[in-house]
Amino acid sequence: MSLELASSHGQDRHWSRHAARYDDLFLDPFRPGVVNPLLDALDAVQNPESKSVIDLGCGTGPLLPLLTRRFGAVTALDFAPAMIDRARKRLGEAAGHVTFETRPMHQLGDFAGKFDVAVAINSLVMPDVRAIDETLRAVHAALKPGGLLLAIVPAMDAIRYHTMLLWDQALDQGREPESAERLAAVRGEHAYYDFAFGRFLFQGLRQKFWESFEIEYRLRKAGFSDVALDRVLYPWDDDQIGGAEFADQPKSWDWSFAAHP
Ligand SMILES: C[S@@+](CC[C@H](N)C(=O)[O-])C[C@H]1O[C@@H](n2cnc3c(N)ncnc32)[C@H](O)[C@@H]1O
Repeated sequence: MSLELASSHGQDRHWSRHAARYDDLFLDPFRPGVVNPLLDALDAVQNPESKSVIDLGCGTGPLLPLLTRRFGAVTALDFAPAMIDRARKRLGEAAGHVTFETRPMHQLGDFAGKFDVAVAINSLVMPDVRAIDETLRAVHAALKPGGLLLAIVPAMDAIRYHTMLLWDQALDQGREPESAERLAAVRGEHAYYDFAFGRFLFQGLRQKFWESFEIEYRLRKAGFSDVALDRVLYPWDDDQIGGAEFADQPKSWDWSFAAHP
């Protein structure tokens, strides 16, 4: 692996910098009103008290209280020290039941065959797809036979869906096509996106956005089988540009998936 990949492009520092204001900046897949199939998939795990789980890219730890209540052994991994700090604080005394690991998630060599379940919520976002592939292979090796990977990843096609709604709205309001496209691009914040290669750059954070075909492709490439896709559905509210104006349209989404090694 290249040195550049091993240092994760300095993204660990950028994520640490965003730890304090994380809740203001990111869509929360656990907030009320969100339809989140990953929570049902976690509920469906049989005998969780005898099972081990790793939260990959745990961030400020929104999922950790649920994992510590249900699972016998919980590991929380993030390469950003400030995220790990916030996750510990969120848990309080329960932090004593969690093993914290501050490292990049492609470095799982010492965990071979250790986990029943791996969870990655909006954390498979490395802008270098070599790091994604390396990580998925590492997660595959860290799971027990019959184990389960559950993940949510940001959806690139949802950004284009949002763009379509903004564009059509501007046309319906009587704008000329060129002006409608310009307005949709500004309101849809296209300046931050690279639509061809599925990337998003905002305040120093470079994140990968996914298409459904790429999820299936990269998971299979890393050795996973039975990749089942689903969607996290977000309400049209103030967290999305134009929010309430689209209340009668189908909801926007992120991709969620379950896969077996
Ligand atoms: C968008 S946040 C999501 C955090 C948390 N899972 C949640 O749902 O709130 C992405 C997290 O993944 C971490 N992360 C990104 N790339 C990583 C990598 N290669 N190795 C370890 N952690 C990583 C970041 O530090 C950040 O805490």
